Amino acid sequence: MSDILVHTEAGVCTLTFNRPDKKNSITAAMYGTLADALQAAQDDAAVRCVVIQGNEAIFSSGNDIGDFLNNPPATTDSPVFRFLRGIAQFPKPLIAAVCGPAVGVGTTLLFHCDLVYAGDNAAFSMPFVNLGLCPEAASSLLVPQMLGYHRAAEALLLGEPFMAEAALEVGLVNRVLPPLEVAGYAQTVARKMAAKPMSSLIETKRLMKKGQAQQVMAVMAEEGVSFGRMLGEPAAKEAFGAFLERRKPDFSKV
Ligand code: COA
Repeated sequence: MSDILVHTEAGVCTLTFNRPDKKNSITAAMYGTLADALQAAQDDAAVRCVVIQGNEAIFSSGNDIGDFLNNPPATTDSPVFRFLRGIAQFPKPLIAAVCGPAVGVGTTLLFHCDLVYAGDNAAFSMPFVNLGLCPEAASSLLVPQMLGYHRAAEALLLGEPFMAEAALEVGLVNRVLPPLEVAGYAQTVARKMAAKPMSSLIETKRLMKKGQAQQVMAVMAEEGVSFGRMLGEPAAKEAFGAFLERRKPDFSKV
């Protein structure tokens, strides 16, 4: 079975993280598959809406830490950056169904989705600082914008997780449901969306996003440079080493 499942039915392309034994952490190969699937969905007139989901217990634990250490993104054409640009610029409606932990990019990708449905077990976190890194996916712009600066500081400087109800309150999530109902609900909404005129959907989304589309891409590029540099620095090496060795990191010297 592939780590990313791609299934198209009734105008809806569903992308499913399918690596539950590793908590749906995302390798470079998976980013490549996701980026290619988004491009194919964009190009295929039969696809009118995309759903991105995990399972009822886990959305994604973010970047695969070992893969990131061994195979860091080297250029702006790296799979992770292709995926991030693809999701930020995706012209058709994009719906996320999120249950369980959504860590790092598992949360930041949601800021590029049009609708987000969450299980009451969803836990969002962006622990970049705790990993010796900095925000990605334009989250340094989009998180303060949506949460307000002080709640963003809790999420991004402290790396504090927040639950589905808090995400609903700030507007990151449209609706909270029992975990077993989330995927079905997202599919129902996606099919409703797919029945609408495509040209109107695309133009409406473009108009809603155009005010800061360029800024989002510029911030994402700047974050990418910092993130790439910081991956090779001592703080990230200590944090990632600690995760793989299942010990607490020691940042006293970095
Ligand atoms: N990268 C690589 N492997 C990961 C991973 C990640 N981001 N997240 C989980 N895994 C692996 C674990 O190493 C473990 O593998 P093993 O069975 O071979 O030992 C397996 O997935 C299960 O993870 P575990 O931590 O035991 O599950 P849990 O239910 O106790 O906790 C999480 C789930 C998501 C809370 C926890 O795994 C976690 O915090 N992961 C790290 C998330 C992170 O920092 N991501 C940011 C990357 S930028």
